[in-house]
Amino acid sequence: PGNSLTDLFSRSISYLRLSLTDRCNLRCMYCVTEDESSGCLAKLGQEELLTYEELLRVVRVAVAMGITKVRLTGGEPLVRRGVLDFIRELNRIEGLDDVRITTNGVLLAQYGRELLEAGVTKVNISLDSLRPERVAAITGIDCFDAVWRGVETVLALGFAPVKLNMVAMRHINDDEILDFARMSQRLPLQVRFIEFMPIGASSRWNANTYISTDEIMERIGTLGELIPLQKGRNDGPAKVFRLGEDAAGTLGFISPLSHHFCDRCNRLRLTSAGTLRSCLLHDEEVDLRAVLRNEPTDDSIREALLTAIRNKPRGHQLEERLHRSGSDCHGRMSRIGG
Ligand code: GTP
Ligand code: 5AD
Ligand code: SF4
Repeated sequence: PGNSLTDLFSRSISYLRLSLTDRCNLRCMYCVTEDESSGCLAKLGQEELLTYEELLRVVRVAVAMGITKVRLTGGEPLVRRGVLDFIRELNRIEGLDDVRITTNGVLLAQYGRELLEAGVTKVNISLDSLRPERVAAITGIDCFDAVWRGVETVLALGFAPVKLNMVAMRHINDDEILDFARMSQRLPLQVRFIEFMPIGASSRWNANTYISTDEIMERIGTLGELIPLQKGRNDGPAKVFRLGEDAAGTLGFISPLSHHFCDRCNRLRLTSAGTLRSCLLHDEEVDLRAVLRNEPTDDSIREALLTAIRNKPRGHQLEERLHRSGSDCHGRMSRIGG
C-alpha cells in the first residue's frame, strides 16, 4: 500500500510519537516551570488522556495509511498504568514493525525484561549528567543510581542500540561532554548530544546556555578522530560517528537549531492531551480527542491525520521567530513528549 501520508513539501510521514501521559516521576529543570518545581504540576485529568483503546484505534488507522514506526513518550511513559499490556496490543497491529520508547530510565531496571518481551525494539534514555549530585540538581530527584541500573539492565538484555540522550547546556553540564564521549568508547551505547531548544520551561533557555553541535564536536575532536557512520532507513535526525576505530559504542548529534533536519522530517506527534501536533516547535494542533469522542469513525480519524499533515510547516523557523518577537514555542514538553 502506498504511503498516503505525504505532506505539502513531499516529506513522507512514517513515524508517530505517542505521548502516553504528561505525568513524570522527575522534575527536570528544562521541562517544568519555576512554580511547578515546588511539586505542584499542572496535570491532565484521567478523562483528558486518550484511553488505550482510543490510542490503538488511532494507531491502526495511521499504520494503514503508512506509519511504520511508533515511539512511546511521556511525561514518563512507564508511569502510566497498563503500559505493558498496551505495548503487547500495539505489537499485534499488522504493518507496525517498530515500537520504541523514550524514558528517563528510573523504572527500567524493573520493566526492562517485560518491555523486551512485550516487543519494544529500542530504548532511548535521557541522562544529562554522570554525577549523582548533579543529576539530582537537574532532575529534582536523587535518581542517578536507579537510572544507571536501568542502563545496565537494557544493555544486559541485549537491546541495541541503546541511546542515551544528553541535552548539552553551558555552565550546567558542558564540562561533562568529554566524559560522555569517552563513555561511548567503553560501552556499547549511542551517546547523543542534543542542542538545547527554547521550548517548555523556556525561561531557562538563552543564548548563553545553548551550545551548538559544532562546538561540542570541536571539543570532542580533541579526544580522537570522529569517524562518520551511515544511517539506517528508520533512523532519526542524529548524525552518527564513532570516536576512534576501537570504540564499543557511537556518538550521535541532534542539532535542531544549528542544522535543521526539518526538510527530512518524517514525524507526527500525538500529545498526551489527544491532539495531533505536526511540528515539535509549532503550537498548532488538531484536536483528535474531540473527533474520537464525537464522531468515532475510521474515516474521521483519517481526516484528522490528513489535516494535521496538511498543516505541517516547512520547518520551525525559530531563528526568525526569536529575532522577530523573542517569542518561542509555548508547548509543554511533558505534554508533547519531545
Ligand atoms: P530515534 O528514533 O532513536 O532516532 O529517536 P529520536 O531522536 O527520534 O527520539 P528521542 O525521543 O530520543 O529524541 C531525542 C530528542 O531529540 C527529542 O526529544 C528532541 O529533543 C529532539 N528531537 C527528536 N526529533 C525531533 C524533531 O523532529 N524536531 C526537533 N526539533 N527535535 C527533535
Ligand atoms: N531542548 C532539548 N531537548 C529537550 N528535552 C527536553 N526538553 C528539551 C529542550 N528544551 C529532551 C529530554 C529527552 C527528550 C525526550 O527531550 O532530555 O531526552
Ligand atoms: Fe520536524 Fe518541526 Fe522538528 Fe523540524 S522542528 S524536524 S519540522 S518536528
